[in-house]
Amino acid sequence: MKKPRTRRFWSVVLTLLVVYALIRWGIPALSREITDLPFPLTVPGTLMFIYMLLTVIALFLLVTFSEEHLEDFLYPVRRFLRGEYGGVTRAVGLAVVPLLVGWQVYDVTVPKMEQPLSLRIQHPSSNFPKKNETLKNPFANTTDAEIDAFVEQARVNDIGFIPQVQPDLDSWAEYSEAGHMLEAIATAPVRAFLQELEAGSISRDTARAALMEKNLFEGRALYSMNCRPCHGDSTAGDGPMADGFKLRPINFTDNGTIETIVEGYTFWRVSNGGPGLPTEATPWDSAMPVWKLNLTEEERWKIILAEYDLAQKTPRIPESH
Ligand code: HEC
Repeated sequence: MKKPRTRRFWSVVLTLLVVYALIRWGIPALSREITDLPFPLTVPGTLMFIYMLLTVIALFLLVTFSEEHLEDFLYPVRRFLRGEYGGVTRAVGLAVVPLLVGWQVYDVTVPKMEQPLSLRIQHPSSNFPKKNETLKNPFANTTDAEIDAFVEQARVNDIGFIPQVQPDLDSWAEYSEAGHMLEAIATAPVRAFLQELEAGSISRDTARAALMEKNLFEGRALYSMNCRPCHGDSTAGDGPMADGFKLRPINFTDNGTIETIVEGYTFWRVSNGGPGLPTEATPWDSAMPVWKLNLTEEERWKIILAEYDLAQKTPRIPESH
């Protein structure tokens, strides 16, 4: 049986349509499956153009491969132009094609309204667990029992540091002449504490201040390991990786950021990152990682302690207080 001579023409048209549909709707739909985000990742216009251009070039090569192929392809076009499918079909076709092209050109060139930058809600809270509202940073509010335990550790020079800083402290202790591990933290409150420790009479306030220094020391170390690449040494959102993100890492020294939220909110944001944000914060996608996957609660609270300290900000006090 002879194949219909219009086959080549329609397979070209169909290929173009299928490729277009795949890029336009297929890839975004697949991206939702892969990323699990509540919105699709769109294909950039230039990429779309490149894909379509490549498709057209491939089809052109295929059609012009031989005289016979080209004749097959042009067969229905010639018949159409000669009016062999009927005068009305030809008239409609000749009107519709230029109109479609014209409409496309108009759509591409007409000036469009830009998405206003400020529309993103900086601190969305529709899925913020209300019980977090009154959460307090345990390391900003150490109890007397914790302070006493710290003093005991200091007496026997056996301070429990987080594992991330322990190796560095150990090698520091090996090469320094220090008599006490806490000398690694050379700040005034720690020095005052060590003096009192030597003299044998320690006030709880001095111990509290020294414990705070120790927690800040650990928090700063964790901050530089985990947050600095994006949020920067200065916490101004200018880390070495910051320029790579369209939605820039937050500048903590800016008055509108961590100062306007309660600690419990900061903890929730750090724990759940960009993927934990509700839909009103999208589609301005956030690169902020989900820290509860990599950092323990203790580590997250210590970082937050250091984060506020480095930025020289204080969290907002919960309303109920
Ligand atoms: C890969 C880059 C990246 C890293 C690493 C990163 N962040 Fe972020 N962070 C962001 C971006 C981008 C935003 C802004 C978008 C948003 O609000 O989610 C942000 C926002 C935040 C906010 C919200 C501030 C506010 O006022 O709403 C907090 C708090 C925060 N980061 C803390 C941290 C902490 C703590 C760490 C380290 C444990 C960290 N970030 C590591 C990219 C990062």
